[in-house]
Amino acid sequence: MTLDVRGVPPSELESVLGRIVALNHTIFEGMFPWEPYSLEHYRKRLTGVMPVVFVAEQDNEIIGDSIAYKYEDPNNHSHYIWILGVQEQYRKKGIATMFLDFNEQFARKFDCDSVIVKSYNISKDMQRLLLKRNYDIIAVDRNENPKYKGVHFELDLSPEE
Ligand SMILES: CC(C)(COP(=O)(O)OP(=O)(O)OC[C@H]1O[C@@H](n2cnc3c(N)ncnc32)[C@H](O)[C@@H]1OP(=O)(O)O)[C@@H](O)C(=O)NCCC(=O)NCCS
Repeated sequence: MTLDVRGVPPSELESVLGRIVALNHTIFEGMFPWEPYSLEHYRKRLTGVMPVVFVAEQDNEIIGDSIAYKYEDPNNHSHYIWILGVQEQYRKKGIATMFLDFNEQFARKFDCDSVIVKSYNISKDMQRLLLKRNYDIIAVDRNENPKYKGVHFELDLSPEE
């Protein structure tokens, strides 16, 4: 039983994307009033950006993933974590913490100003993790149902004065 967390090189992404999407269907199904994103949606969203993908594998089966890319704002050079999820039976073992460590290391290495994550209010486990790691809440989307309000978190990477 070996657990491994690793980066997915761009050349391998297309061949693992289907497995990632299938896993994310099991993770996100029923969590939101909308359907989990389709493979087509992932492909579209990841076209024209340079995706930064990490997967957690247990005996070669993908059991968690994180997908990020550069935020498309000319004034803000940020690393945006779009998707992050861990299969239920593997939670609370530090896998999401490793994904965040890897993403933050990547963002620092490539001189990003910040790491940005949008998390919906229903995802309290994620929000607790981000707050524990000193992410700030920089915006909250409006939504009639407070459970599905999008909360925008940012970790400022600029050097301290
Ligand atoms: C949010 C999510 C990604 C967290 O994944 P995870 O791998 O369980 O996260 P971690 O194990 O790193 O941390 C979770 C908790 O376990 C604790 N933990 C980590 N390793 C541990 C260990 N070895 N033993 C006991 N506890 C541990 C952490 O301290 C943390 O504690 P907290 O709940 O008090 O904050 C996961 O719950 C998930 O996929 N949820 C559904 C999808 C989702 O909400 N995604 C986020 C969308 S933005």
